[in-house]
Amino acid sequence: MANIISIVNQKGGVGKTTTTHNLGYALAEQDKNTLIMDLDPQMNLSNTVGIDCYAQKQSIYDVLKDKELPLGSVIKSSDHERMDIIPSAFELSGAEIEFTRRISSASLLSRSITNSIREEYDFIIIDCPPALGILTINALSASDYVIIPMQAEVYALYGIDMLLSTIEEIQEETNSDLKIMGVLITMHDGRLRLHKEMTEKINDYFKDKVFDTLIKTNTTLKEAQSNSKSIFEYDGRARGAKNYEALAREVIEICQTREVR
Ligand SMILES: Nc1ncnc2c1ncn2[C@@H]1O[C@H](COP(=O)(O)OP(=O)(O)OP(=O)(O)O)[C@@H](O)[C@H]1O
Ligand SMILES: [Mg+2]
Repeated sequence: MANIISIVNQKGGVGKTTTTHNLGYALAEQDKNTLIMDLDPQMNLSNTVGIDCYAQKQSIYDVLKDKELPLGSVIKSSDHERMDIIPSAFELSGAEIEFTRRISSASLLSRSITNSIREEYDFIIIDCPPALGILTINALSASDYVIIPMQAEVYALYGIDMLLSTIEEIQEETNSDLKIMGVLITMHDGRLRLHKEMTEKINDYFKDKVFDTLIKTNTTLKEAQSNSKSIFEYDGRARGAKNYEALAREVIEICQTREVR
């Protein structure tokens, strides 16, 4: 049964999409059948994987809207045989207005993830937009875990209360199984005193909920993205590849420990 993980932070540009893509690819490289899902109307993940969202006949938007339409019909394969993708759609930008008035508005995604989809994959990873709106709420309502990517910058912890209370509300109202898997520090530069200090603060705040793996700042990750490739395809020896490989190992271990308990 797939472990479903949402990548969430309402702050923009903290590495959500980079993490979804490269963690997804790293899991696939470690023989895990992985589905990555682009729930962000900015379409960054879909573009990075090289998919033209405008060319789709039906999309995740149609699946959310129409419960008769199976999620399987919008799954596309990627360059990795073990990694599939659900692309974004421009109509998702209207989701806030269109879906919010539905009674089941928070559960449109979870109802589409059938047991047979869950059995097909080991991991489903959802890239969320930089907002705590209806799309993120749908992702959290459908997930077993949330990963919160965060930069060790001055304002890193601003807004975190709101994110944590949204997660608590989801746990109380729609999904009691949701757990915080961890906070992932991204774009870290060990030479900067600020990054060291903020990393300590983040560790004090979240205690054992911070991943051991740090994603270091690595321009090769940016280059890979602009060439529509994962870091593993672009330059497997780059530091970013080693970091995301380590993260995938940590994620697999956390899921296995929880399963045994
Ligand atoms: N470890 C890293 N080192 C250097 N650059 C990085 C790293 N991680 C991400 N980036 C770059 O930072 C920018 C923001 O990353 P990304 O798009 O993954 O963030 P995001 O949280 O998904 O943004 P948004 O909130 O807009 O969806 C991108 O240009 C990406 O290439
Ligand atoms: Mg993004």
